Amino acid sequence: MKILVTGARGFVGARIMAALEGAEAVPSLQGLGEDDVLRLIDAAEPDVIVHTAAISDIPTCEKNPEASFHANVEIPVWLAKAGVKCVLFSTDQVYSGCESEGPYREEETCPANVYAAHKLEMEQRVLKINDRSVLLRATWMYDMPMYGVPNRDNFLISMLRKPEVSFSSTQHRAVTYVREVAEWMNKAITLPGGIYNYGSENRLTMKETAAWLKEELSLPVAIREAGPRHNLWMDCSRIRAQGIRFADTTGGLRQCIKDYSL
Ligand SMILES: NC(=O)c1ccc[n+]([C@@H]2O[C@H](COP(=O)([O-])OP(=O)(O)OC[C@H]3O[C@@H](n4cnc5c(N)ncnc54)[C@H](OP(=O)(O)O)[C@@H]3O)[C@@H](O)[C@H]2O)c1
Repeated sequence: MKILVTGARGFVGARIMAALEGAEAVPSLQGLGEDDVLRLIDAAEPDVIVHTAAISDIPTCEKNPEASFHANVEIPVWLAKAGVKCVLFSTDQVYSGCESEGPYREEETCPANVYAAHKLEMEQRVLKINDRSVLLRATWMYDMPMYGVPNRDNFLISMLRKPEVSFSSTQHRAVTYVREVAEWMNKAITLPGGIYNYGSENRLTMKETAAWLKEELSLPVAIREAGPRHNLWMDCSRIRAQGIRFADTTGGLRQCIKDYSL
């Protein structure tokens, strides 16, 4: 099976390239128009497209909504128009304005920033064009740096390297080991079309999660209170019912600690 991966040199894409059999990198889509994207896909004749390319930094999207719209809505919509099965990354930020406590099921969305609003619009438009499309709502992901891949600020690296971090003692959200996200892709590409919360669940608040990791690794980092934040935690029962079972947040962190002998 020929699987094209967009954003193949990015944080998630590079791990998917390593974990997914048959994966081939797509050249950068940055700045391309609809015809260019469709030509590129037609020429490659893939069976599946895994789309990770995006502008995923929330402040960048707030400052430049046009660029966010192009990257986070238009490009994925054009990929869906190619008529090939697409597996596309979305985000738990679609829950960022939800009033209820959570954990959130896929139907309960309320995006509170430009990035989240564009991702939600992308999900809806892509599914309308091609109902075989699989939309994966990912949590904040972490890993140690990977050789040759630009490193992203992430929960684990912050905890290991910063003298001080700030997390809320009221915010519920999960963080997920990105290698698990990549390893489940072999199964994710076979999912029926639809939207799936795709990552770890977490019963702890972010401050409790940070305190757990500090204790586990005897880290010197100081953990400050960040004040109340909106919850982002997801109910992942839909993806579990499809046989994709992530470790919970502390279980994923334990696995990462073991993998890297931290
Ligand atoms: N990282 C997280 O914790 C996280 C959390 C939730 C959801 N997500 C979602 O997961 C997916 C992968 O995230 P990531 O962390 O791997 O992203 P990333 O490393 O920031 O970027 C992935 C790739 O996107 C492409 N890209 C950058 N700017 C672009 C633009 N203006 N137009 C088109 N493509 C552009 C680049 O690939 P090229 O060099 O090939 O252009 C880049 O390597 C994204 O859809 C993101 O929204 C990530």
